[in-house]
Amino acid sequence: MASKSNGTIGILTAGGDCPGLNAVIRAVAKAAMHHGIKVVGIRDGFRGLVENRTMPIDNSLVSGILTQGGTFLGSSRDRPHKMEVAGRIVDKTEVAVRNYRKLKLDCLVCLGGNGTQKTALRLHERGGINVLTLPKTIDNDVAETDITFGFDSAMAIATEAIDRLHTTASSHQRIMICEIMGHDAGWLCLGAGIAGGADVILLPEIPYDLEVVARHLLRRQRAGKRFSIVAVAEGIVSREEAKRKAAADRISHELGRETRLIAQSGAAEGVHLVQEAVASRLARRLQHLAGVEARVTSLGHVQRGGSPTPFDRLLCTRFGTKAGELLAEKRYNIMVGLKSNVCVPVPLKKVAGIKRVVPVNHPWLTTARLVETCLGDEVE
Ligand code: F6P
Repeated sequence: MASKSNGTIGILTAGGDCPGLNAVIRAVAKAAMHHGIKVVGIRDGFRGLVENRTMPIDNSLVSGILTQGGTFLGSSRDRPHKMEVAGRIVDKTEVAVRNYRKLKLDCLVCLGGNGTQKTALRLHERGGINVLTLPKTIDNDVAETDITFGFDSAMAIATEAIDRLHTTASSHQRIMICEIMGHDAGWLCLGAGIAGGADVILLPEIPYDLEVVARHLLRRQRAGKRFSIVAVAEGIVSREEAKRKAAADRISHELGRETRLIAQSGAAEGVHLVQEAVASRLARRLQHLAGVEARVTSLGHVQRGGSPTPFDRLLCTRFGTKAGELLAEKRYNIMVGLKSNVCVPVPLKKVAGIKRVVPVNHPWLTTARLVETCLGDEVE
């Protein structure tokens, strides 16, 4: 343990929670303290920084939390530059920066997904404060890292759910639709779909053709298969919806903002909204086309709950201790990513604002096709 004081860091968790947040807080705090750095916990994401709600973190507080789900600091999707205060949206960046200085922080460590990466960079660029981030999300869609923490745990939960759906589907000869989280990126649905042996996997990145899916299900029936499992990501769009959305996007860029709002409201009729039950609609239509009874299971927030997998516990501990090492070297305005199985610092500028979606030529897609999984497009 270093005896000399080596500064103070603040740590917060922002955005949707996931398994592994406590494991990372523990690793960052223990490694930082090992290097003589004091640690201050900030409650409920960036809102806690704006409202100056903090707690001192010592060794005993981070002891025994490696396996605990959620985040003991609390989380929120609030951003200092767009804070809701008494029903109004207010820019509180200055207040956040003032509190950072009051706390005499040398760096703000932010655990979060894409939104958090952007907010952290903004605080650095607009407020002049030091930040260091870690890539958290079950969506696995943060740039400049091969994997985010939380993804493996969520994939294990979704895979187990698909396994369980297999047995009941086979008993009743049904089509089982399983809705998996992921609005823009289909990593979770694709990973769990392959691991669970889903017969159809639909992703936001590949607009689906309902007839292609129905034909695949009918072919399975004719081959004597008594049931089918369809894994769908929250953000899937059909081919027609994708075309309508592309047209609306074109119009909105060509014409100004006012027209954009009108165009978007028209397009929204054909495009899934956040809370729309994508899987239910799909089930109704497939039941009709394939002539087989369909049932829907939406996994929802179950995917974000509970204890992290051993893989995530190890990853979180590696991420967190690497962060501690970088903080001791006073290397700031970076994210810790995993590349070729090594934890490395990457400039935050290269991460913020970029969503890592599944590329059309990704090997997992080839893998899925080679085991006769339908991805909803023409390629068979
Ligand atoms: O960003 C992670 C994520 O889990 C998405 O996959 C999901 O759509 C979203 O969060 C749900 O967020 P909330 O908990 O705010 O409803």
